[in-house]
Amino acid sequence: MKRFLTLLSMCLPLAAGAAGGENTVSVETAGSQMVLYVHQNGEVSFYHYGARFDNPDQILGYKSYRRWDYGTEPPAYPARGGRHFNQSALAVKYQDGNINTELAYTGHTVSRLSDDVARTVVKLRDAVTSLEVSLFYDAYYEEDVIVSHAEITNAGTGPVLLESYASSGIVLDAREYLLTHFHGAWAREMQVESELLTHGIKSIRSIKGVRTTHTENPSFMLSLDTDTFSEESGDVIAGALAWSGNYSMDFQVDETNRLSVISGVCPDGAAYRLDKGMTLQTPEMIYTYSGSGAGQASRNLHAWARKHCLYNSSSVAPTLLNNWEGTYFKFNEEILKGIVDDAASMGLEMFVMDDGWFGGTDYPRNASTQGLGDWQVDPAKLPHGVGAIADYAHSKGLKFGIWIEPEMVSPDSHLAKEHPDWIVREDGREVTTIRSQWLLDLCNPEVQDFVFGVFDSTMQLADGIDYVKWDCNRHVESAGSSYLKDNSSFWFDYTQGLYSVYRRIREKYPDVIVQSCASGGGRMDYGALHYCNEAWTSDNTEAVSRVFIQYGTNLIYPAIVCGSHVSAVPNHQTGNVTPLKFRFDVACSGRLGMELQPSDMTGSEKDFARKAIESYKGYRDLVCYGDLYRLGNPYSDDCYALMYVSPDKSRAVVFAYTLKFMGRTRRPLFRLSGLDGGKSYRITELNVEKSCFWGHGKVFTGSYLKGHGINPNMEKVYSSAVFYLEAEHID
Ligand code: GLA
Repeated sequence: MKRFLTLLSMCLPLAAGAAGGENTVSVETAGSQMVLYVHQNGEVSFYHYGARFDNPDQILGYKSYRRWDYGTEPPAYPARGGRHFNQSALAVKYQDGNINTELAYTGHTVSRLSDDVARTVVKLRDAVTSLEVSLFYDAYYEEDVIVSHAEITNAGTGPVLLESYASSGIVLDAREYLLTHFHGAWAREMQVESELLTHGIKSIRSIKGVRTTHTENPSFMLSLDTDTFSEESGDVIAGALAWSGNYSMDFQVDETNRLSVISGVCPDGAAYRLDKGMTLQTPEMIYTYSGSGAGQASRNLHAWARKHCLYNSSSVAPTLLNNWEGTYFKFNEEILKGIVDDAASMGLEMFVMDDGWFGGTDYPRNASTQGLGDWQVDPAKLPHGVGAIADYAHSKGLKFGIWIEPEMVSPDSHLAKEHPDWIVREDGREVTTIRSQWLLDLCNPEVQDFVFGVFDSTMQLADGIDYVKWDCNRHVESAGSSYLKDNSSFWFDYTQGLYSVYRRIREKYPDVIVQSCASGGGRMDYGALHYCNEAWTSDNTEAVSRVFIQYGTNLIYPAIVCGSHVSAVPNHQTGNVTPLKFRFDVACSGRLGMELQPSDMTGSEKDFARKAIESYKGYRDLVCYGDLYRLGNPYSDDCYALMYVSPDKSRAVVFAYTLKFMGRTRRPLFRLSGLDGGKSYRITELNVEKSCFWGHGKVFTGSYLKGHGINPNMEKVYSSAVFYLEAEHID
């Protein structure tokens, strides 16, 4: 910290650097450094992101030996035009039809946002058109995270068209680049795929408008100089875009073998008109660098997210019972009260009433075919209103949560008939439905008021609504807004509209816990999580699938945001049958909940649930705030384990799962890499009569547990174990 303060005071006063000479701009964190190079002619190149080498001026005079006819050195923010011919972050068409932009340095500033966050702003300008770009780099010193975005200002004389306007670009130089990214679908989110990049452009993107994180996620990891993904060694750069709309992340390996990564709003069909004097602020792109593998990259992102990004990460969502898979749309007051009783008796802390409670008398929500938009209680199901259920839950000591899907409207609803102009559509084309619903046009401020109003009025339905599950069950098709003059700004404006509603909600309801759900994990991004406390990781609640989904999700997002529920067997999504203990042991590695009809459980199942929930409460702080160490990889290991360790390494919890039968002769071996070798730990297996590990109850040194490891007897497929470790002195 001391060195950081010295460094800052060296950079201050605010106006550092000026046009006219060769110069470097260095953005530093405890273990990483990003260096930009200002050339004599004002071009700003991106010269380094990775390990810290301190004095950036060592790089002054650097030569890449690029031939003059091979374009510019890699720009910090490549604009289309001039001598630049690789992919661009910015592409502008001017009023006179011209298409070139050449950005040159006009100065940079460094300021302190807080004790451990410094902001560097690099200012660029096109001399011919007066277009200005400010590049922001916020350095989070302790977490080794740099958050970057661009602001584009039209200081010219007429409107301009931004044909692309990415948030940020980085350039890396390595022998080879292993890209790890996340693909999937509904009920199969965050599947991990790694590939060595070849020359050309690889793009990961979504143009679905909303529910953008099912098929890809706006995040990645890059392992440098290797073809192998490693948890513990090598240079890794991870990135995530804080944006809930269309995005693209483009990876170009060029003829110099350098990799340029450009991330931001997807420009496809999204040209943005910027009027004279206006500034467009792009979403934030989050980067971290680790010199010791992917594990540290994840821990950096998690620590940064908890401290600087997530909405109120100091409060964890309570353990809960959600009635969706237990009842679907078929419930009434009596059924819900019975569920509340069971939830309370098992020690859960909240009841969440899911879809099906609204639609009034005309369009009661008895199926997904109607009722969205009519947010009045269905009196047939809840004759005494939502308040009766909320009060009942409270009387049993539980908090109360409720489901809404305020961006949507069913064709069969009063809202659809009263406000056809609020529906996303283009005149003359069919308005397609997905799950029998249309999307409301959040570009329109009247719709923003309505959506805010849905949240606001829902909050008035009962005293003490503690939690809102905000769902979003379709994406955009045939984009169009009757409010906008030019639909190419639809994509950007929709997400801005959503965020403006979120902001209003947070002003009025700072304490309510909001879950970001979009048919499961369709809105798992750091943009939404800035306003929502947690996310619904997937509609797939089946435990084996969840091991993979949560593994992928936690490469980028911390466990505190991952709603993770125990459901019934055979699982409703996959048909798979796993033991209750396995289901609990998987769910307990995230934010624990249950999602089933508890009256279908046997007495002994409830007893087990009670025990597992109680023990979870004892180590939940580790899951939510501890450092994650992955002890292997479920894609390659038959048995997979992960552990969370307290920051002072005095406590830890290990979750282990047998995913495949390994035969009679092999047993898993887990080296508990997150421990402190100098401490001694007592290891206790939780929630079992008889432990599967011979060392249960014994004390071992951290160096033994890290170096030799543990070999629990987890032969049978779907066997699982939870070990709790606490440091103590050997007596
Ligand atoms: C989505 C959600 C589910 C559930 C249903 C209700 O699919 O992801 O968890 O809330 O909607 O319709």
